[in-house]
Amino acid sequence: MLNAPIIAPSILASDFARLDREIEAIDNADWVHVDVMDGHFVPNLSFGAPILAAIDKVSDKHMDVHLMIEAPEKWVDDYIKAGADTIIFHVEAADDTIALARRLRESGIGAGISVRPGTPIEPWLEHLEEFDLVLVMSVEPGFGGQSFMPDQLEKVRLLRTEINGRGLGTVIEIDGGISAATIGDAAEAGCDAFVAGSAVYGAESPAAAIEELRAIATERGNFGGK
Ligand code: DX5
Ligand code: ZN
Repeated sequence: MLNAPIIAPSILASDFARLDREIEAIDNADWVHVDVMDGHFVPNLSFGAPILAAIDKVSDKHMDVHLMIEAPEKWVDDYIKAGADTIIFHVEAADDTIALARRLRESGIGAGISVRPGTPIEPWLEHLEEFDLVLVMSVEPGFGGQSFMPDQLEKVRLLRTEINGRGLGTVIEIDGGISAATIGDAAEAGCDAFVAGSAVYGAESPAAAIEELRAIATERGNFGGK
């Protein structure tokens, strides 16, 4: 478990015409979460590497890049060049999950995997050493603003038991429907990092929303071994 929760607002819910200001508005966040969608792996299309490169120019924040795309192995180099710090790809989309994770680490960036709600996590538990981060989807990937699926926390509990039992540093991140109403349960289940799109950018003050999420996660989670 980390010493403090990582709050990672998703710019998918921001105003794309004002990205520099939207990123400034989340200055008190830990990471910026960037959702790349190709219209194939998920039915929605968002943006690609040129937008990441533009974000990288105006932000020093850790860029947490969530690739919801087919054949991620064909495209990761573009995202590495664009300034990604961690790349998360879907196990359902990669041709060789372990090989791709190793390639990312060799390039000096964090390797993350993600699973759709219907995809079991068990097959990946024995390979956790290969990954810096596991992203549990708590909505069907593709769109912001959906309802949190509490049954996905079972995967978080399994991961937490394995990671703690083996003394690993793998970060558990959760994505989809995270708000003041749901982040506490996710923290209690063992998440370290929390993606929030609409709960941050839909708020009157994104900075205040981040503080509220952080306070609840700190209170309900087990950060710093408290
Ligand atoms: C969904 C994306 C999420 C999304 C979260 O496919 O991966 O990161 O933007 O949005 P909210 O927080 O609105 O559910
Ligand atoms: Zn995401």
